[in-house]
Amino acid sequence: MFARFRRRRLSPVLRDMLRETKLDVSDFIYPLFIRSGEGIKNEVASMPGVYQMSIDTAIKECQELKNLGIYSIILFGIPDIKDSVGSDAMCDHGIIATAVREIKKAHPDIFVITDLCFCEYTDHGHCGVLDPVLETVDNDITLQNLGKQALVHAKAGVDMIAPSGMMDGMIESLREALDNNGYSHIPIMSYSTKFASAYYGPFRDVAESAPSFGDRRSYQMDPANRREAILESIEDEKQGADILMVKPALAYMDIIRDIREASQLPLAVYNVSGEYSMLKMAAKAGVIDYERVMMETLLGFKRAGADIIITYHAKEAAKLLNGN
Ligand code: PBG
Ligand code: ZN
Repeated sequence: MFARFRRRRLSPVLRDMLRETKLDVSDFIYPLFIRSGEGIKNEVASMPGVYQMSIDTAIKECQELKNLGIYSIILFGIPDIKDSVGSDAMCDHGIIATAVREIKKAHPDIFVITDLCFCEYTDHGHCGVLDPVLETVDNDITLQNLGKQALVHAKAGVDMIAPSGMMDGMIESLREALDNNGYSHIPIMSYSTKFASAYYGPFRDVAESAPSFGDRRSYQMDPANRREAILESIEDEKQGADILMVKPALAYMDIIRDIREASQLPLAVYNVSGEYSMLKMAAKAGVIDYERVMMETLLGFKRAGADIIITYHAKEAAKLLNGN
């Protein structure tokens, strides 16, 4: 006898109608890694299908993204020269400022987001200026530099900034820097709850941003802490964040749900490099149905409470959602 659950699952049409959570191409933000040069498209072994690109290549890539219905990108930079403070990130002719200008010129309809941090630009690979005594990032000097980086990106024409450094007071000081300089229309998507995670390993190969000593545990969060995770995001909401974020995503589904319930703000999740590469490598080994596992994972983020998914899978998922 078909009783109350199974009789609703018999028809594919009814299953479609009753589906509670749906993925949409407009949910996705696609990350791009930009370096100088021309015609460059370097694949990095730890992230199959992800490339370091020169600006001209990235401009072509944006056309491909639009053809798939993806209109939103987040940029990471690999500068030619790194130094102790990450000067390239605060310069109007730095790699990301240049990329923003050229991409917006070629594709005004692409929504360009920039990751605001210094780990890709410093020679020591930490996310800000170092305090020589404490041997970790100096919070308040780094806030000043983040303000400079934000204004450089704003001037270049960025549509939204996404500070990822986990400095205290970051959102308040960035909001003030933008507002005081005529950029009150630019929203801030905060990496509000970001854990010190081993899942970032492959990203650091692609972005060439691994710390040269130590780790990021004095600024990124302890993966064990649930209450603190909620407090971090609530604090960023109070400071004026427009969108909150949980990062990584897969091992933190509970946190996504917690923050969804603790705040009415839109919530993004970052489906990080290690999560992406695990599926890629498992597919290569022939142990999973890659496409189904990918879609199930992305759907899980939305069911947990995410509105936005930053993911290296965006193009592959869009193809499936578009029916090819
Ligand atoms: C910069 C930054 C990182 C990621 C996004 N922004 C690296 C880090 O914090 O070490 C990781 C993204 C990924 O793993 O895909 N701070
Ligand atoms: Zn960083």
